[in-house]
Amino acid sequence: MNLFYRLAYAVGFKPWEQASEKEAARIAAMFDREQAEREPPYGKALDLGCGTGRHAVGLARRGWQVTGVDLVPKALRAARQRARAAGVDINFVNGDVTGLRNLAIGSGFNFVLDFGLFHGLNDAQRAAMGREVNAVTAPGATLLMIAWAPGRRPPLPRGASRADIEAAFPGWTTIAEDAIPASALPRPLKNAGPRFYRLRRASNAD
Ligand SMILES: C[S@@+](CC[C@H](N)C(=O)[O-])C[C@H]1O[C@@H](n2cnc3c(N)ncnc32)[C@H](O)[C@@H]1O
Repeated sequence: MNLFYRLAYAVGFKPWEQASEKEAARIAAMFDREQAEREPPYGKALDLGCGTGRHAVGLARRGWQVTGVDLVPKALRAARQRARAAGVDINFVNGDVTGLRNLAIGSGFNFVLDFGLFHGLNDAQRAAMGREVNAVTAPGATLLMIAWAPGRRPPLPRGASRADIEAAFPGWTTIAEDAIPASALPRPLKNAGPRFYRLRRASNAD
C-alpha cells in the first residue's frame, strides 16, 4: 500500500478527499457527538493516516490537541501547509502506524481517527496497528474508522469487515456502524461499500 499511496499523492489521485467533502456534514456531526460526551478541553486526538490533514486541522480548530501520522512525506507537506493556513498547531509525524511507539508521539490519546488506512493493511500489519493503538490510547478512548467492505483487489485496499476490525482491536467494543451511501461517493469509490465504525476502548483497560 505504501507504493500505492506514494503514487496516488504524486499524481494527485485522492478520491477519498472528495468523499470527505460530500460527507462533511456527517463527519462534523460525529465530531460534535464525540465532544458532547466530554468536557473541554477535549484532550489528545490522533489521526492515523492523516493524509493532507483535512480532519486533523478540523479537530485542531475544535480545540483538540492533535497528532497526525502518515507514511507519505508529500501528504504531510500539504498537511503542514493546511495547518499553517488555518493557524493551528499540529504535530505531524512521518511514520508507520504499525510502529507508533517508535515515533515518540506520546500516549494518553482519547480520540483516534482512521479514515481509510486500516482496510488496506495485511493481517500482520492490522494486528500490529491494534497493539500500537492500545499502547498510546487512554482507557475509554474512541476510535472512529472508515473502512471499505472486504473484497477489493490489489492495488486497491482490500477492505475490512467489522469482525476484522474487532479482531485487531481486542478490548474495544463497536458502539456504532453506519454505511456511507453510494450517492456520497465519487466514481472510483462507488462500489467500495465504505462504512463508519465507532469503537470504544474499555474504561478499565491498562
Ligand atoms: C485513503 S487515504 C486517507 C487520508 C486521510 N485520512 C483522509 O481521509 O483524507 C489513507 C492514508 O493512510 C496513509 N497510510 C497508509 N498506510 C499507512 C501506514 N502503515 N502508516 C501510516 N500511514 C499510512 C496513506 O499514506 C494515506 O495518506
